[in-house]
Amino acid sequence: MLSNLQTRIKLLFKLPIAVSIVRILGKLGIQNSTLRRIDFLSAPDASRPTKATEILFHWMDQVGANPSEVLKKAAGGTVLEIGCGRYAGFAPIATLCNASRYIGIDPGLDPAVLKHRKVATGYFLPGLEQSSQYLRKHQTGLPQLPSPDIKTLNQLYQICDFRRAGIVEAMSTGEQVDLCLSISCLEHIQGFEEAAKTMAALSKPDTLHIHIVNFSNHLSKDKPFQGLYDRPFPEFAKAHSDLINGLRVTDLEQIFENAGLSLQMIPLDIGPDALPDSIDSYWTEKYNLDALSTRVAMFTTLPVKQNPAAR
Ligand SMILES: C[S@@+](CC[C@H](N)C(=O)[O-])C[C@H]1O[C@@H](n2cnc3c(N)ncnc32)[C@H](O)[C@@H]1O
Repeated sequence: MLSNLQTRIKLLFKLPIAVSIVRILGKLGIQNSTLRRIDFLSAPDASRPTKATEILFHWMDQVGANPSEVLKKAAGGTVLEIGCGRYAGFAPIATLCNASRYIGIDPGLDPAVLKHRKVATGYFLPGLEQSSQYLRKHQTGLPQLPSPDIKTLNQLYQICDFRRAGIVEAMSTGEQVDLCLSISCLEHIQGFEEAAKTMAALSKPDTLHIHIVNFSNHLSKDKPFQGLYDRPFPEFAKAHSDLINGLRVTDLEQIFENAGLSLQMIPLDIGPDALPDSIDSYWTEKYNLDALSTRVAMFTTLPVKQNPAAR
């Protein structure tokens, strides 16, 4: 409990001063839309609008999939990003690809902040420019990539549908999408069975799914399973306020199958060396070592081969 508090305090002081002040005020119950906007524009992620794309393309490269698959699907189609975070990660890319719609879903996003004029010019406009440069550098083969301007910014707002809710509540019956992405989100969804059913319902036979799932403790990159496997999961969840759902790669495979959604699981990062010496029987009775040591995996409809580097 104390170490959890210490970690939070340390993290708070690593942030830009404006963000730390706004968050301390928030803890004291002082919040308003201006403060939320200051937090949004001053936090480190505001200066990295290509983060989600970089992560996705990195892992696609690793499994030999061409990132242009994503861009082709987005062109003229409906893009859904589950757990898009406060920064609506793929909104600029969806816009540059001429998607007809981008649905960004996250219980933590703030539509009023995202639609504010200062966020438009201070985050999305540079975000469009940086995304455009990133795509050019990555040679994704997009034909005649537009150089973003105010018209592109208007287009972004026309296609974007920001929904502050979890995936189950956010999607309406009958809504379907062409491209369904998530970066480091599925492991945070509580009640994942219902989420998987929703994902199955929003899928058409040709919907492209790419989900990058991070099974680590979300506390330490160097020791991804420390503090997680040395006790039963409910104890970890209690100590870290349901930070993650604790499902392992084999659970997700089973849940997707039960939901009728056929996704291939590709292990991306397996770290048997990262396993702690002693693992609580809560884990060893349910999972084999491959499942326990999978740190990152992709669930996808892409026709890719298993990543040999991961095994
Ligand atoms: C680790 S963050 C990743 C955010 C973003 N994708 C990124 O890469 O920066 C996980 C996100 O999942 C969101 N999330 C949690 N439960 C969710 C749910 N039921 N449906 C959709 N998103 C959810 C959280 O609010 C959080 O923003």
